[in-house]
Amino acid sequence: MIFTLRIYRGTPGHQYWEEFALQYEPGLNVISALMEIQKNPITKQGKKTTPVVWEQGCLEEVCGSCSMLVNGHPRQACTALIEPYLQHSSTITLAPFTKFPLIRDLYVDRKQMFEALKKVRAWIAVDGTWDTGQFGPKVSPEVQEALYVLSTCMTCGCCSESCPQVSADSSFMGPSAMSQIRLFNDHPTGKLQKSERLRVALGDEGIAGCGNAQNCARVCPKNIPLTESLALINKEASKQAVRDLLGLPDAKN
Ligand code: SF4
Ligand code: SF4
Ligand code: FES
Repeated sequence: MIFTLRIYRGTPGHQYWEEFALQYEPGLNVISALMEIQKNPITKQGKKTTPVVWEQGCLEEVCGSCSMLVNGHPRQACTALIEPYLQHSSTITLAPFTKFPLIRDLYVDRKQMFEALKKVRAWIAVDGTWDTGQFGPKVSPEVQEALYVLSTCMTCGCCSESCPQVSADSSFMGPSAMSQIRLFNDHPTGKLQKSERLRVALGDEGIAGCGNAQNCARVCPKNIPLTESLALINKEASKQAVRDLLGLPDAKN
């Protein structure tokens, strides 16, 4: 069976659609279809063209780098099997994310997400000189389980792509950074910087930017409870604002 990949290609200010006819093989996914085009980049209309550019890394939905719009929905191309799409149409569209600077074809620059992680201090600040006791702080299995889900975020950008509040006109850093504040604030050692993270959430790029449309939680491929994280950070950030207003010391738990 022959199917068509219709791809929105080009560079900023010069984007256009190109179609490629491909032979369906069982197990084919979007990345392997793109690799087929790369071997012989000739359009469905028989025109020789340049190979399509995209980003990929792990090929197992862990790194998030291959994220793009498949039939208009944000997702990872490496796990997007062709077969289910063909049940609806013999044409599948691919387009780059729209909320990130375009580099070329399906490849965008997700730097803003990594910068947001730096701003919210998405790490545990243990430099090896702290006395954490014989075994360090304990984490209960319940907390471990909750934190594990949050830790599966792969900074893929699907949530930001779907969020109406993330745009060129807004400074909101997006739901994933807010959820990472929750992850590191709930960690027994990460708590030591809880107030600093919450002050970032209180800032111009923080939680006030969220309009509670909840698109983000619906598209997250890791099923991270983003709505819950956003509500929690909103509450915690408000408490932090009151503490700061009253001049109280930073909370450590
Ligand atoms: S809840 Fe809505 S506005 Fe808030 S981050 Fe998610 S998609 Fe954006
Ligand atoms: S929260 Fe989900 S959708 Fe957003 S970047 Fe992380 S894994 Fe991707
Ligand atoms: S290549 Fe890493 S998620 Fe697809």
